[in-house]
This record gives sequence, C-alpha cells and structure tokens, in this order.
Amino acid sequence: NYGDWQLGTYLAGLEGTRPEIPMHFAELARRAEEQMPPEIWSYVAGGAGDEHTQDANVRAFQRYGLMPRMLTGAGERDLSVEVFGERWPHPLMLAPVGVIALCEAERHGDLTTARAADSVGIPMIASTLMEDPLEDVAAALGGTTGWFQLYPPNDRELTESLVRRAEAAGYRAIVVTLDTLTLGWRPRDLSIASFPQLGGLCLANYVSDPVFRSRLAVPPEEDMTAATMLWASIFGNPRLSWDDLAWLRSLTSLPILLKGICSPDDARRAVDAGVQGIYCSNHGGRQANGGLPAIDCLADVVDAAGDLPVVFDSGVRSGADVVKALALGATTVAVGRPYAYGLAVAGQAGVEHVVRCLLAETDLIMAIDGYPTIASLERSALREVR
Ligand code: FNR
Repeated sequence: NYGDWQLGTYLAGLEGTRPEIPMHFAELARRAEEQMPPEIWSYVAGGAGDEHTQDANVRAFQRYGLMPRMLTGAGERDLSVEVFGERWPHPLMLAPVGVIALCEAERHGDLTTARAADSVGIPMIASTLMEDPLEDVAAALGGTTGWFQLYPPNDRELTESLVRRAEAAGYRAIVVTLDTLTLGWRPRDLSIASFPQLGGLCLANYVSDPVFRSRLAVPPEEDMTAATMLWASIFGNPRLSWDDLAWLRSLTSLPILLKGICSPDDARRAVDAGVQGIYCSNHGGRQANGGLPAIDCLADVVDAAGDLPVVFDSGVRSGADVVKALALGATTVAVGRPYAYGLAVAGQAGVEHVVRCLLAETDLIMAIDGYPTIASLERSALREVR
C-alpha cells in the first residue's frame, strides 16, 4: 500500500527522520556517483557518442502530458498486467543490466538484484553478462518471474546451450537483444579504457558453460585471459539476420521477445517471424547516438505489434514516465539505470526503494488523474505539451 508508505514517510519527517535513500532521482544519481569508482560510474551512467540520444530519451517524456479526469472512481486502482498468461500486480520490470554486479562492492549485484525483485514482486530480466551464473540468479529470484536476456554469440552451439540452460533454470522468456550485435561508440569508456579497469566483464555465464569451455585449450580457471579473448571473438554477431529467427525460435518452447525494436516495420517483421513479444528500446541511448528518443517510437511499434505484448524501456525516471509509456500502449515498462543507482547507493534496499518510489508515483498519478486501470489509460489521455 503505497499511500501508507508515503504517509509514513511524511510522518517520520515530522519527527525529524529523513529517508536514508534519496526520494528524488537526481539526488539518487548524485549519491550513486559518489559511491562508485569513477570508471564504473562512467560505464553505467554513460552512453553512446555525445549522449544526445540518451539525454533526449529522458527529456522527450516532458513533451507528453496526461489529461486529468475527475470523479472517475479511481479511489481503488488495479495496476496489474497480463503477460504470457501470468498476471503481475505491477506494470514494472527490471531491465537487463550487464555487469550490474559491479555496482555493488561485493560484486554479487546480480544476486542482490534478484533478491530485491523477489521481495518487491517485480520481474527481473537477467543479462547474459553476469558475475554469477544464470542458475544461481534464477534461484535467488525465488518464485518471482525471471526472463533471460540473450546476446546471441556467433557460435550457434553456444547460443543453444545458453538458451537451454536458461529454460532449465526456470526463466520464463528469452529476450534477444538485437541492438548490441557489435559494441557501441562510447567515448567515456574509451577515454578511461574502462573494461580492464572494471576488473572483468562478468563472464560467469560463459565460463560456466560446457560448450564455451570445450572451445578452450585450458580451463578459464587456469587462463582467464584466453577465456576473455575467446569471449571477445564470439560475442559480436553483426551478421545475425531475420533468417536466423526461425532457428532461434526452434531452440526453446519459451516465449521469445526481440529487444531493440524501434521501427514499426521491424515490429511487423518480428510478428511475421513468429516471436511472442516486442521490446521497444534504444538501450538507454548506450548503443547508437543520433537516434530518436525511444518513447517517440513506442506508439507506432505498439500499433505494428498487433496482439503481441510490448515492453518499453529507455529514459524512464519517474512514475509519470511509467504512466505515459502505458498510455502510449506499452504492456509493461522497464528501467535500467535507476535501479543500478539504487543498488550502488544501498544494495538490495536501494533497488527495492527505487521500485517502490516508481510504483508509488505511478499509483498516485493514476488516483489523482482519474485512471483506475491500465486499460483506462488510453492514448487519447495524452496531449502534446506545447
Ligand atoms: C544496459 N542494457 C543492457 N541491455 C541488454 O539487453 N543487455 C545488457 O546486458 C545490458 N547491459 C546494460 C548495462 C548498463 C550499465 C546499462 C545502463 C544498460 C540496457 C538496458 O537493458 C535498458 O535497455 C536501458 O538501461 C534502459 O534505459 P534507462 O532506463 O537506463 O534509461
């Protein structure tokens, strides 16, 4: 009950107790920056090129305004959504954040995030790039829904092995990220050569994989440099094409979503390719600069996706942003950097806090502006801010 939580926070404030974790996103980011080594902060907060697209992702939300409606009976709200036959109480997910492990001093940030997801009841999408193997992260999720995000390597047998492991571990969907088939141009990372300084690339899912290990002359435990070089040679996969989707589809009975879709034509191709979901995202502006703000692509993608669910991320920083993405037709919304900052500032409690703040604001806006359900949030509820 977010109303009670909010009231409790105000009442504690009257007695002089301030929340330990910032309630305000800008302050959270500032504290995260203080907390993290500079190269990790740059890696997490930074984006592609001069970061215009990344910044535009956030700013673009301000061009959409929600029309308040009165006396609609929004005193009781139902924010639940249905995705792949499951009903989730909230329209929010944790986006896959590779090397999230490094946002925590102990470097088990994947496990911590999974525990936070379980405690607040929010699905987590686990990245291919983790510091703990995907099986351990699935176990830490308890009964909470986990999806596995796949960076399909240019090695079909390894791809198959990763997908099968994810299915066996209990993940309930595979998110195939298509906008990272090669690394983006990231001047901040290039300037400080951050990968070596990060002290690793979070390759647990590779070094624990029997196919990956079979490609090495000596086990990774004895020669991590060779394992890292092998990883570097198989990670990129720019030749992956629509023709490969039938094969990817044949690897698993789990639903498959394609992440990185911003064009309605691509959304239609995805429908034709027989996938089960679309993930509209520009990777938070980390991959290619000079693009459109992701939120401006959402409505067309939703229209092209037909009956398929559409997950949205990139630039969501508040409950107001969540509401706008839902009104534009997203089935559910995900965040990346906000929870990474929460993790850096206060570990599991920090991730939970970020989720609570986003959900509380989402819920209160729907109450105040008179939208009792997500279905009632139609596109016509939004106006352009002039
Ligand atoms: C990401 N993202 C990402 N996406 C993905 O499919 N696999 C991954 O491993 C990663 N890794 C990753 C690392 C870091 C540090 C960040 C910040 C992001 C992208 C992520 O899933 C999501 O698309 C964006 O983070 C959404 O934008 P916001 O919420 O950060 O603005």
